[in-house]
Parts: sequence; structure tokens; C-alpha cells
Amino acid sequence: MDVPNNRSSVSEFILLGLSTSREIQIFFFAVFFLVYVAIIVGNLLIVISVIVDTHLHSPMYFFLANLSFFDLCLSSAATPKMIADLLRKRKTISLWGCMAQMFFMHFFGGGSEMTLLIVMAVDRYIAICKPLHYTSIMNRRVLTGSVLLSWVVGFVHTMSQMVFTINLPFCGPNILDDIFCDLPLVLKLACTETYVLELLVTADSGLLSFICFILLLVSYTVILVTVRRRSSGGLSRALSTLSAHITVVTLFFGPCIFIYAWPVSSFSVDKFLSVFYSIITPLLNPIIYTLRNKEMKAAMNRLRTQHVRSRQIF
Ligand SMILES: *[C@@H]1O[C@H](CO)[C@@H](O)[C@H](O)[C@H]1NC(C)=O
Repeated sequence: MDVPNNRSSVSEFILLGLSTSREIQIFFFAVFFLVYVAIIVGNLLIVISVIVDTHLHSPMYFFLANLSFFDLCLSSAATPKMIADLLRKRKTISLWGCMAQMFFMHFFGGGSEMTLLIVMAVDRYIAICKPLHYTSIMNRRVLTGSVLLSWVVGFVHTMSQMVFTINLPFCGPNILDDIFCDLPLVLKLACTETYVLELLVTADSGLLSFICFILLLVSYTVILVTVRRRSSGGLSRALSTLSAHITVVTLFFGPCIFIYAWPVSSFSVDKFLSVFYSIITPLLNPIIYTLRNKEMKAAMNRLRTQHVRSRQIF
């Protein structure tokens, strides 16, 4: 750590975590642990219901299941270690562990989930504004293509930043005031000029999420205006689906934009937004889609009775 000439002499980072108070950390451990279990169970239930239940074999539910899959991966990239760290006095992470966390957070959270949210908005637009052409437009190939696209965008988005980050020299200090490795903070620790890279990250992550957010808001506004103008019986149902989508989108992009595009985000606000990103966002899908969606609830009931029946047989 004291050898500044040696490239990458830092082999691990120290995370400061949420708090230094033991009681507060134990409290957060209990809460986050329960939330994490809820995330896993809720999202797994969505994925299984959509795969198993033929009533849910429609584009919207396929996208929803894929979104839940991304949420599962996103929340498993850094959250389990972050939760376990709450009980540790010294919270360390290896250099490669840190790189892996940033890679998977950006891959599943940044690129893939963002793209999928846009795909879902387009899907709703076609379903509501062009209902007669819906089944012919949203065919199997378009469906698979859209899901593939979200993987590709995730990968390209992530690699464009990580290729440069992986080669940075770190020679100390190695203290991160965060709960897991987050790109902007890690860049600040590199012992080389990272101005250009920081700009790239701001553009790649911050601007990207800002543009996606605006695009999504515009598309949902167009849908809402269309629905209002028709003002038929489907209005309230469309409104409830759309408000669910808009809630997810706002809560997902809000923290992203704040962390990556806000010019003065060097405060510990980042840390609390990271909690949002790792704990709250992945929980939203199950809550919003299962508690508010009749079809989804019915599917889960069928899943449960099926399970009971199969247990009675064996
Ligand atoms: C993702 O979407 C595709 C539709 O193209 C579907 O076949 C697949 O089952 C979905 N994945 C999950 C995990 O539900």
C-alpha cells in the first residue's frame, strides 16, 4: 500500500458500510436479510408461474419474468455480501471481487434491465394503441429478439466501462465509503488521472439512464393520452397496469440518475441510494405485479393448489 510505483499494489478494498454502530448494523442485518429472502422468493415465484402457467404465456408476462430474472441476478451480485458484511467488523473485498460486483451490477441492473423496461413500454404501447396488430407484431421472433437485445445492450454497456476500469492501477488509499463497489467511487481511488474515464461513466451510465427515463416517461404519456381519448371501459385497467410500470420506472431510474449524473454526488447520499438500488428496486416487481395484478395472483394460487395436489399424490 505504501509503494506508489508498484502498479496495482492494492489487492483489496475496505468498505466502510452503512454505520459504525453495532446495534444499528444488527438491525439493518435483520431487515435486509428478510427483504433479501422476500426478493428471492417473490421473483422466483414470478419466473416459475410464468414458465409453468399457460395462462401467462403472453409477451407481457414473458417480459415480466425476464425482468424478475434480472432482478434475481442484480440483487445477488452484491447484496448477500453486503448483508453478511453488516456483522463483520472489517469489511474487505478483493480487487477482483470488486470488479466482478461492478460488472454484474451494471450488466443486470444497468444495461439489461433498462433495455427491458423500454421493451416493456413499447409492448404496452402496441397492446393499447395498436391492439389489432398486437399478436402479429409481437410474434415469437420479436419476443426472443427483444430479450436477446437486452442481454446485448447490457453486455456492451458494461464492457465499455469495465475494459478501462480493469486496467487501472490502484496503489492506495483503498477505503471506499460505500456498502459495495460502485464505479464512481472506485475510479476516485485509482492512482492515475481518471478524468476522461469518469466522464465516460457519467455519459455511459448517467446520461443513458436519464435518456431512458425521459423516453419511458414520454412513451407512457403517449399511451395515457391515447387511452384517455378513447375513454372506454378498458381505461381503469390500463391505468392500473401503467401506473405500476411508471412506479417501477421512477423508482428504478431515480437513484441511478442521482448516483451517476448528479455533479455533486460525492456525499454519503450515494451509500443510501445504493441501498435503494440493491434492496428496494428488486423487491418492487413482485410487490407491484403480484399484489395489483389479478391474473398473476390467480396463477400463483393455481401454482399452490397444483403443488398441494402433487404432494398428496406422492
Ligand atoms: C424470457 O422471455 C422469453 C420470451 O422470448 C421466454 O421464452 C423466457 O421463458 C423468458 N425467461 C424467463 C426466465 O421467464
